[in-house]
Amino acid sequence: MKKSFVILSLGLIQIFTLNVWSAIPESRQHLLMDKNWKFIQSDVNGAEKQNFNDADWRTINLPHDWSIEGEFKEDAITRGAGGYLPTGIGWYRKHFNLASVGKDQQFWIEFDGVYMNSDVWLNGHHLGKHPYGYTSFYYDLTPFIKKGENIIAVRVDNSLQPNSRWYSGSGIYRHVWLNIAGSVHIAQWGTYITTPQVDSSSATISVRTSIENHREVSKNLVLRSVVIKGSGKEVAVVETPVTLTSAGKTDVEQSLKVDSPELWSIETPSIYTLQSYAVEGTKPIDSYISTFGIRKIEYDTDKGFFLNGKHVKMNGVCLHHDAGCLGTAIPEQSWIRRLQLLKDMGCNAIRTSHNPPAPEFLDLCDKMGFLVMDEIFDEWILKKGQVDFSYHLYFEEWWKSDLLSMIRRDRNHPSIVIWSAGNEVIEQVSETGSEVLQKLVEVFHKEDPTRPVTQANDRIAAGDGPAKLPFLELQDIVGYNYVDRWNERRELYYSIDRHDHSDWKMIGTENISVGDIRGQYSIERDLPERGPGRSRDYRLGMIQAEQLWKFTLVNDYVVGDFMWTGIDYLGEAWWPSKNSSSGVIDLCGFPKDGYYFYKSQWTREPMVHLFPHWNWEGHEGRVISVIAYTNCDTVELFLNGKSFGKKSYVFPQQGHTKAWNTYTRPYIAPTTSDLHLTWGVPYEPGTLKAVGRKNGKIVTEEVHTASRPAAIRLSADKMELSADAWDIVNIKVEIIDENGLTVPDANNLVEFKVEGEGILVGTDNGNPHDKTPMKSKQRNTFNGLALAVIQSTEKSGNIRITASSADLKDAVLQVVSTRASK
Ligand code: GAL
Repeated sequence: MKKSFVILSLGLIQIFTLNVWSAIPESRQHLLMDKNWKFIQSDVNGAEKQNFNDADWRTINLPHDWSIEGEFKEDAITRGAGGYLPTGIGWYRKHFNLASVGKDQQFWIEFDGVYMNSDVWLNGHHLGKHPYGYTSFYYDLTPFIKKGENIIAVRVDNSLQPNSRWYSGSGIYRHVWLNIAGSVHIAQWGTYITTPQVDSSSATISVRTSIENHREVSKNLVLRSVVIKGSGKEVAVVETPVTLTSAGKTDVEQSLKVDSPELWSIETPSIYTLQSYAVEGTKPIDSYISTFGIRKIEYDTDKGFFLNGKHVKMNGVCLHHDAGCLGTAIPEQSWIRRLQLLKDMGCNAIRTSHNPPAPEFLDLCDKMGFLVMDEIFDEWILKKGQVDFSYHLYFEEWWKSDLLSMIRRDRNHPSIVIWSAGNEVIEQVSETGSEVLQKLVEVFHKEDPTRPVTQANDRIAAGDGPAKLPFLELQDIVGYNYVDRWNERRELYYSIDRHDHSDWKMIGTENISVGDIRGQYSIERDLPERGPGRSRDYRLGMIQAEQLWKFTLVNDYVVGDFMWTGIDYLGEAWWPSKNSSSGVIDLCGFPKDGYYFYKSQWTREPMVHLFPHWNWEGHEGRVISVIAYTNCDTVELFLNGKSFGKKSYVFPQQGHTKAWNTYTRPYIAPTTSDLHLTWGVPYEPGTLKAVGRKNGKIVTEEVHTASRPAAIRLSADKMELSADAWDIVNIKVEIIDENGLTVPDANNLVEFKVEGEGILVGTDNGNPHDKTPMKSKQRNTFNGLALAVIQSTEKSGNIRITASSADLKDAVLQVVSTRASK
């Protein structure tokens, strides 16, 4: 819905700024086809037929993930890899009416993503099969479409399990579009926009436009390309006469100059629009909108990455594609909230592990200013572990079209600065692996010579069979997964290869983070060894990540690091857990302590974060480690007003400026070389207070002993949402004491009631062991918190959410859903 609106509004912009081209030609339409599909979660004979009776199937809207509607079961066929949720086979049918079908019109249907093995029919005619669940695809409808009622039928087969190492979701889990254009039109993903010359005074924009002619006669027309900046002002125009070959595709190259460009950057992600018109005589017969950014990227062997000439270290996170209780059918607001959290953490880069994301995810990265590593596969020809039905079954036949789909769909996004050909593929250690990589790299380079290609290698120095040199040398930038895993690399990291291969560029594609379970702390000294589902000792978990970060930051040649992971994800779990806890943000979007470690290293505004909580009744007098993550010069800790001393850490190094003993910042005697501060504090209830000082500024953080649960507090991430049956509001649920403090170990059962124009679409609490269905109206809080997600309907009006729990005061929150809020 949003996308169509954007297109419409750009159309309006164009009306005001261009006199000659007064409107988008009526023939070209890009219509969202999400509403009112029929669905059944089983295999049905004959459901592809036009006259099949689907009256008793459910009516649903897309995007839709049926797995997330199911129950968590230990014996689920996906096992822990798929988060113990059901998969299977499902059918979708969409009835739609066309008032007319012009003889000159072309129709095609575009699927942003279907997991997986989809077959599509129009009016009983098979259009095609698409195995991979993460690439976008489209089919020509023109030969079979007719005036009146048409029926699209889609069979989705996610029954062969396991086929993924993480939660995939099942179904048509991304948007579907109907495209209508004339017989001469700009192709799907038909523009390729690059910015070969960029500086603050001017930029050159190169555009290659593919125009399709479906007629048996050649055609003369003019391709008019207009660059519009964010404000709506037209800033460059070029017109090129073109002779189109009959029944074929013609590529047109154009170049435009933009003066004083607003450069796309992490801080100011300025977006430009390219409006392309195919003009016959004076009549625009087709128009197409693309968005892009003007920016320059460079990778230097010694100095790392530069954006618009400025050195940038990639402070990256890996992300899987699910959004907790919503599964994989994800409204933008869910990503907006979570990406904003990552942004606030100082994260500036995202690796879409291990597959191309939804297009709107990349649009958000463009708009919010993230660098993106877009990754295509987790597996090539050689199978990984026990994942019997994964991509190795399809690679030989499908790799090229899947790869082309990702590159052609995504290559105009300014956020994407690097491609990844794969994650930890077994081919890295095989004799023939480099042949496969070579084929992939050739396609990347041909389709997009402007971005480097990496592969996420986890076996570069593996004792039991290291990655092959020719395989690594094919990579424009060598990707390191778990660089500290092998032998002396625990301390020397990249430096061994830097010495041996000084011509390599290097990037940390995936490395250890400070994950764990939100709000879980143990003060026992004899915690079990770390293992699946076990909590780490909160005093130790960060050391490995801290050491790696020191190395990454001070060595410019390391382009950056993508830690595993920014956010918890469903699957890759071992019962009784249903999700991985490697994120620094939990499944609900609540930050864990580790979040603040990265914030302390990646942001400059003075901050201090203290943990654990201070509710240790029964442990009075026991010495408890209190830890601070901070970017301050010093932090002093107080308990109930008594100081436990001022501390500071040695990193970042002070460095000399002009002469010996001259420092850019005040010299502070460090008390540790860790990147966190620790005090041993004998427990007594009350208030822990940290006072951080940085360049004369003071920042404080307090942790209080909370008393018994007394009430529920609700807060929303926004108060107004769009009445489009797609937008959501995220409601944070807190159990609080009589003073309004969150009770850090509260697990009260909360029941939600939603009245008005909203629907409860998910609840969660971030506890990996909680197997209450994600659609449940009842949810225990976990360590004081829970999440409820409410979706709008198509009617505007108020939405009233009531949360109740035995012995606690109810909480009520009202938000409003309106028609034209976006
Ligand atoms: C990596 C892998 C990720 C995930 C992670 C778990 O080796 O690339 O997909 O499995 O391990 O720790």
